[in-house]
This record gives sequence, C-alpha cells and structure tokens, in this order.
Amino acid sequence: MTGDRTIQRAAEIIKRGGIVAFPTETVYGLGADAFNPLAVARVFEVKKRPSFDPLIVHVADPADVRKLVKEIPSNAKKLIERFWPGPLTIVLLKEENIPEIVTAGLPSLAIRMPNHPMALTLIKESKCPIAAPSANPFGYLSPTTAEHVRDQLGDQVDLILDGGPCPVGVESTIVSFSENKPMLLRPGGVSLEEIESIIGMVEITPIEDRPTAPGMLPKHYAPRTPIVLDWNRKYLDLYKDKNIGLLVFQEPGSNQKFHPTEILSRNGDLREAAANLFAAIRRLDALNLDLIIATPIPEIGLGRAIMNRLRRAASKGE
Ligand code: TXA
Ligand code: MG
Repeated sequence: MTGDRTIQRAAEIIKRGGIVAFPTETVYGLGADAFNPLAVARVFEVKKRPSFDPLIVHVADPADVRKLVKEIPSNAKKLIERFWPGPLTIVLLKEENIPEIVTAGLPSLAIRMPNHPMALTLIKESKCPIAAPSANPFGYLSPTTAEHVRDQLGDQVDLILDGGPCPVGVESTIVSFSENKPMLLRPGGVSLEEIESIIGMVEITPIEDRPTAPGMLPKHYAPRTPIVLDWNRKYLDLYKDKNIGLLVFQEPGSNQKFHPTEILSRNGDLREAAANLFAAIRRLDALNLDLIIATPIPEIGLGRAIMNRLRRAASKGE
C-alpha cells in the first residue's frame, strides 16, 4: 500500500504534466491533468488507443462540476447527491475551456467523483480535475490491482499508486444527460434499478448505436483466450482434447471438476462476483488455455454490468 508521501509525489507529477496510475473503487485509472492536452495525449499513447476516445474526468468535490459544464439538469443533480462519491459517471454538455483531446471533440464531458481515499487525495493535492481512462492497454481487461497495472504498463507510467484491490471491480455506470432524456451508456457499479429509483425510467442505449463511445465497442475487455459465454455440457464434449477453463458464478457442477475453475462468488453475491470478475479472467487467461467457458449470471443489479463485460469479452468483435 502506498503512503501519504507517495500520494504527494504523485500529485507533483500530475502538476508537472506527468501520468500516474491510481486506484479507484471501480478499477485503476491512468490519470493526467485534464487541462494539460500534452499530458492527456501521453495517456492515449501509453494505452495505445487507435483513436482518441473521450475520457472520464475525475473530481474530488461535486461543486467542481459547475466549472466544467454548461448546466446541470435537476435529474443529474439528484444522481450526484445520491451516488457521489461512487461508481457513477455523468455526461453533461461541456464548458469551452475543456481541451478537445479529453472529450475527443464531443460537445459533452463525462465526469465522476470516485469513492476512494487515495484517488480523492490525489485529485485534491494535484489541484486539478484528473482525466483518466482505465489503466489497461487498449482492448484489454481493466486492472483491479496495482500489480495488473505494473504487469501491463509498468515503466511507461511515471508512478503507480497501490491502494490494494478495487472493492467494486467493474467500471462506473455511465448516464448521459447530453441529449434531452437520460440515457444509460454503460451499465456499471451502480445498478440501473438504483438509478431508476431516483430519476425514473432511463433509456438503455444499445452499444451498436454509440460508435462515439468506444468503451462500447463490442470487442472490449477481451482477454487473449477465447471465451464462450454459454453454459452447455456440449462444449465439454466438443472440446474434449482441449484445455478448458471455467468461469462460474457459484459452484461448478460435478462433471466440471477437472478443469481450472474460477468461482466468482460461492454464495451468489453479485457484489462479490463483480469485485472478483477481472482478476479471475486474468488468472484464467494466464494459463494458456484453448478456451474459457463462462456461465451466464442473473441480469439483475450488478449482474447487468457483469454480463455486459462478459459479453464483450466473449464477442468476436464482429
Ligand atoms: O470506473 C470507471 O469509469 C473507470 C475509472 C478509472 O474511473 N474509468 C473508465 O474509463 O472506465 P474508460 O476510459 O476505460 O471508459 C470510459 C468510457 C468510454 O467508453 C468512453 O467512450 C466513455 O466513457 N465516455 C467518455 N466521455 C464520454 C462522452 N462525453 N460521451 C459518451 N461517452 C463517453
Ligand atoms: Mg477502459
């Protein structure tokens, strides 16, 4: 775990235009001063994103939002009051002073206040909002430990803050208010049910309809090993001679015992399953298997975010 002195050093690095990987409650982010276009460009470079995709800007105080956007609709205010700090990102029409590279030229800006003491101290000490995507190479799973970041981005970042494993484990829910009705762009750490209990019906925007939101590209979050998201005995027979790994929600069936298996939550707790998801896929991916078979998860609460990530991991990118 990183101490306070190191967070201070990280803040100095951000102020000088460097890039720092830091923990949030969802996943680790790779951050730069949102008002420094060159620093933000380096984030894209290190992630090897094929094009400039809009980033989420992280703030340490809800009051900071006012300086970054044109206006805050009342439903957005309600969500901010209820869920911040926490795994919810709000998309609003941006103020002119936001560098184009942060929003990839879009008129809107994604903002969130993370619920993690290290992230909040870093933002406060840096004295600027921090633009940060998840700290993984483009197209790969988001990191949920400092070690994941070290393994994949290592010496390309100026500093990695270690806050232990991320408690939520899937990225933030993204709700956009940039058009006239609220839209769910990405299911995540706050469930759709919770959001609708505060502001009523939210339109779910299918991923294909959002080419401007690249986290929405079908083939995202993908490990190297092919994943099949469909529990069916036929796969075990079909791939008899192959090395198969299993990713199951609760208990594996008795006929599955001989395969490397990751159990997301023994007692079927969706929160625990979300927190374990990416690390479990990474462990299976490291085994050089021919195939990972994942069992579907009930699509309620956080199960919606988990299934969304599993579908993308399983997608062939077509
Ligand atoms: O939990 C999270 O949200 C993590 C932590 C680090 O905060 N961040 C994260 O960032 O997942 P990233 O860059 O991996 O995903 C951000 C998503 C992308 O799909 C991006 O396209 C979308 O947010 N996004 C950003 N700005 C947007 C905008 N103005 N309109 C629509 N989508 C936007
Ligand atoms: Mg990402």
